[in-house]
Amino acid sequence: MFMNFRRIKKRQCVQLIGTCFALSMVMVCWEQLDHHVMSHMKSYSYRYLVNSYNFINKSFTISREEAGGLNNFSYLLNHERKCATYRDVLLLLFVKSSPENVERRQAIRSTWGNETYIRRELRVNVRVVFALGVYPNVWDRAWVQRELVREDKRYGDLVQQDFVDSFHNLTIKLLLQFRWAHVYCRHARFLMSADDDVFVHMPNLVGYLQGVTQKGARDFWVGRVHRGAPPIRRRDSKYYMPYKMYPWASYPDYTAGAGYVVSGDVAEKIYHASVTLNSTLYIDDVFMGICANVMGVSPQEHLYFSGEGKAPYHPCIYREMMTSHGHVTDIHHLWKAATDPAVQSVSSGLLGRLYCTAVKAMLLCRPYYFDSYSCKAAFS
Ligand SMILES: *[C@@H]1O[C@H](CO)[C@@H](O)[C@H](O)[C@H]1NC(C)=O
Ligand SMILES: *[C@@H]1O[C@H](CO)[C@@H](O)[C@H](O)[C@H]1NC(C)=O
Ligand SMILES: *[C@@H]1O[C@H](CO)[C@@H](O)[C@H](O)[C@H]1NC(C)=O
Ligand SMILES: *[C@@H]1O[C@H](CO)[C@@H](O)[C@H](O)[C@H]1NC(C)=O
Ligand SMILES: *[C@@H]1O[C@H](CO)[C@@H](O)[C@H](O)[C@H]1NC(C)=O
Repeated sequence: MFMNFRRIKKRQCVQLIGTCFALSMVMVCWEQLDHHVMSHMKSYSYRYLVNSYNFINKSFTISREEAGGLNNFSYLLNHERKCATYRDVLLLLFVKSSPENVERRQAIRSTWGNETYIRRELRVNVRVVFALGVYPNVWDRAWVQRELVREDKRYGDLVQQDFVDSFHNLTIKLLLQFRWAHVYCRHARFLMSADDDVFVHMPNLVGYLQGVTQKGARDFWVGRVHRGAPPIRRRDSKYYMPYKMYPWASYPDYTAGAGYVVSGDVAEKIYHASVTLNSTLYIDDVFMGICANVMGVSPQEHLYFSGEGKAPYHPCIYREMMTSHGHVTDIHHLWKAATDPAVQSVSSGLLGRLYCTAVKAMLLCRPYYFDSYSCKAAFS
């Protein structure tokens, strides 16, 4: 009897401890989940119910002198005639690079960013320019800069300003691009901004932009759209946003900085907005959204522009893809596979289309797959 009682007590004790442990785990998780869910609920309700970002113009507008003081960096490398030598430029493509990413630039030049190839095969002028600041480490800066000058002598496609090239200076790099386009390349029909680890399916993109041109490319801004995204308030996040800098519950709509395209008129508007706005907000794609919001421009979604993450490797995907993020070592391979003429035939005819829809649904609609394109893209 006594033994039995002890055994029961012991079992209850273990149960009690187990329950407490489980409960505390749930509470810890809930707190994080709750925070996540709450901030999204707040931001979505703001975006979809209130949906007035009128405060943005008022709170970010500063005088031209103040704005000029924030962003007045001189060019260390520049090519004023890079775009001007061609009267008809379909696309000015800025790749946001960093001084040390020589190999990434090299890979881009010999694959999707090869201007000669584009002119010969696609019969349009696309100008590819790399946007850079200076190497952050002062001790190594001089020799890195010498290497850059040498690289630039050979390829003539680097545009560099005298600011430290770092994550928190990306907005300065954004302004470099729009200013350069305004001063040296106002006649380009489109401007694109892309990361240097993005794969751009140039033939698909050129075809798409030619289609847009026929419909009259005005007020055009396309990419992976973030609607009603909440600012991240966790200090350990790369995208941490202090209340002081942005006190509201949601950002205006913007496209992921990995790769987006605007028409020439929108590029001009963004430039004009940027010279009277406080550009200390260092998340560049959000700042671009703020500029656009002030000018009354809103983005449209294209299902085959990726935000984060690589697209699945498959011919059915290559046929539709515009951009895919996170490619460094596989760029040559992907370029060859994605531009293979066989890609076109795989999805031709009714059977081909059915086959590709099934494949895309399988690849993109898996649970827990958030990497690149949404499930919707399979059925578009
Ligand atoms: C933004 O504010 C400035 C002055 O603060 C004003 O001149 C301008 O017209 C406003 N722009 C829009 C689009 O409301
Ligand atoms: C920008 O810098 C140049 C010299 O580097 C100076 O002459 C000019 O006044 C500056 N502009 C602004 C708006 O601060
Ligand atoms: C770019 O393409 C042209 C023509 O297809 C080719 O001759 C050239 O070698 C390529 N450039 C690079 C850097 O690979
Ligand atoms: C941004 O660039 C400026 C000018 O070079 C520099 O003073 C500043 O420290 C840089 N900021 C960051 C966060 O790297
Ligand atoms: C720009 O914004 C920053 C951060 O919100 C603020 O500290 C700074 O005073 C502002 N600059 C101007 C000129 O208003």
